[in-house]
Amino acid sequence: MSAERRHGLWHLLSRAGVYDTLQAVLGAEKWRRALIEDHAKPLAGERILDLGCGTGALRRYVRQADYLGIDRNPDYIAAASERYPPASDWMAADVADLAAIETGRFDVVVGAGLLHHLDDTVSQDMIRTAASLLKPGGRLAMLDPVFIDGQHPIARRLAELDRGCHVRRPDEYRALLSPVFQSVEIVIRDDLLNLPYNHAISIGRSPNQGGHGA
Ligand SMILES: C[S@@+](CC[C@H](N)C(=O)[O-])C[C@H]1O[C@@H](n2cnc3c(N)ncnc32)[C@H](O)[C@@H]1O
Repeated sequence: MSAERRHGLWHLLSRAGVYDTLQAVLGAEKWRRALIEDHAKPLAGERILDLGCGTGALRRYVRQADYLGIDRNPDYIAAASERYPPASDWMAADVADLAAIETGRFDVVVGAGLLHHLDDTVSQDMIRTAASLLKPGGRLAMLDPVFIDGQHPIARRLAELDRGCHVRRPDEYRALLSPVFQSVEIVIRDDLLNLPYNHAISIGRSPNQGGHGA
């Protein structure tokens, strides 16, 4: 299965302006704020890596942090670095190549809407690499649409129509993190969009001491 739908209307979303407008209409700022303020909780001075950063919308919630955003869409990265200089905070690259990129280490790794764009193999490799980049006590927090039992039909249909082809169930998100993190939490939220919708926030925590990851 391809990782993303790129034909017809979905193709338009690869343009930064179209993507930003649609996200604003849907009320996406709510889930970005929640990912950072309720779940990732970066502290002042911490170093944060934003995987699949898109047009840089998470940056406004982590202004106090030392930040690096990575996305494979150069149009999104150009928009992000214009909005939030310096350009050195932004990198056009595929997360499948994360292990080969010299980034240094981080307190927090986030991905807002990334995992459901990646198949299991790319997701697991990326999560393993991300965990190896975490400092002791660091955490990874990824937010994605989710399929759950008893889901509102509109929420289910929106998840089915998503540009990302790998929307998963809670246990499937857990299975991506569990081989790497001893502590994994999956939080389901239904309050982060102006429509019936369900998000899963997948959180992995590194031990405070004695290394990181498995
Ligand atoms: C739903 S968008 C979320 C963007 C951003 N995090 C936000 O909050 O608006 C998913 C993002 O993942 C990026 N993406 C998908 N596959 C990727 C990959 N293999 N490497 C890097 N970025 C990727 C897309 O370009 C897109 O910007």
